Amino acid sequence: MKIVQTVEEVRTQVKEWKMKGLTVGLVPTMGYLHEGHKSLIDRAVEENDKVVVSVFVNPMQFGPTEDLASYPRDLDRDAALCEAAGADLIFHPEPEEMYKPDFSSFIDMNTLTGGLCGKSRPIHFRGVCTVVGKLFHIVGPDRAYFGQKDAQQLAVIRHMVKDLNFDLEVVGCPIVREPDGLAKSSRNTYLNPTERQAALILYKSLEKGKELIESGERQASVIREAMIRMIETEPLAKIDYVELVDWDTLEPVALIEGPVLNAIAVYIGTTRLIDNHIYERI
Ligand code: PAF
Repeated sequence: MKIVQTVEEVRTQVKEWKMKGLTVGLVPTMGYLHEGHKSLIDRAVEENDKVVVSVFVNPMQFGPTEDLASYPRDLDRDAALCEAAGADLIFHPEPEEMYKPDFSSFIDMNTLTGGLCGKSRPIHFRGVCTVVGKLFHIVGPDRAYFGQKDAQQLAVIRHMVKDLNFDLEVVGCPIVREPDGLAKSSRNTYLNPTERQAALILYKSLEKGKELIESGERQASVIREAMIRMIETEPLAKIDYVELVDWDTLEPVALIEGPVLNAIAVYIGTTRLIDNHIYERI
C-alpha cells in the first residue's frame, strides 16, 4: 500500500489502474479510523479491484468555534488499519494541496442542508460537498463509500452526485456500534469514562423511538417527545436536535407514512455526538 500527498500522484496511480481496466473504490475519511471506517474499506475491497482511502481533516467543513485543531490525528495507525483491510492507496494531502491560496470555488446546495446538522453547523455541508466533489474529480472512482451514521451527509452527497452528474455510485453502509450500542465515532475519544457512559442515552432514545414506531405509533410529535424526555433524564446531555424527517427530502414529518430518518444530535459535556435510525419500510 502506498501513501501519497499530491493530486498528481493519485492521478498517475489511478490512470495506471484504469488503463488495465481495473475498478476503483474511494473511501473518503478524516482519519483516526475505527471499526466504522473499516467496514467501509472492507466493503470497498469486496466490490472493487483497487481501493483509495483519503485521510484529510478538511478545514472547510469546520466552523470557527469547532474542533478542527483538536480533531484526533494518527496517520501511522490509520495506515496500519488500511493496509490490514486491503486498501491500495492512501491519499493524505496537506490543506495547501487541496486549497491553493486563491481557492474560491465551492459546491453549495440549496436543499437538504438547512435542517438537522445544517442548523447548528451552517457552513458544514458546503465544506463537505466541496471537498468530496474535489476528491471525486481527483480520484475518479467507480464507487464511493459513506457511513449511514452521517445520514444527512449521505443524503446530501447522493443528491450532489445526481445534480452534478458525477459518474459514480454512492454506496451507503450501515452504522457500526460498540457492544453497548454507542455508534462508533472518532469524536468518542473526547469522552471521559463518565461521559462515555452518559453517551449511551443517544442509542437508548433511538431504541425508544424504534419501539414506539414498531408498536404502531405514527405521530412524529409523540415519538419525538418521548425521546426528548428520555434524553433529559441524563444530566450530562444537552439536546441539539431530535427530528423525524422524510428520508428523501429531509423535511420534518408530522405523520410517519413512508421511509423516515429519526436523527439526533446531543452534546455530552462539550462533545457533540450524532446518531440515527432509518425506517425504510413502514
Ligand atoms: O464523514 C467524513 O469523515 C467527512 O465529512 C468526509 C466525507 C470525509 C469529508 O471530509
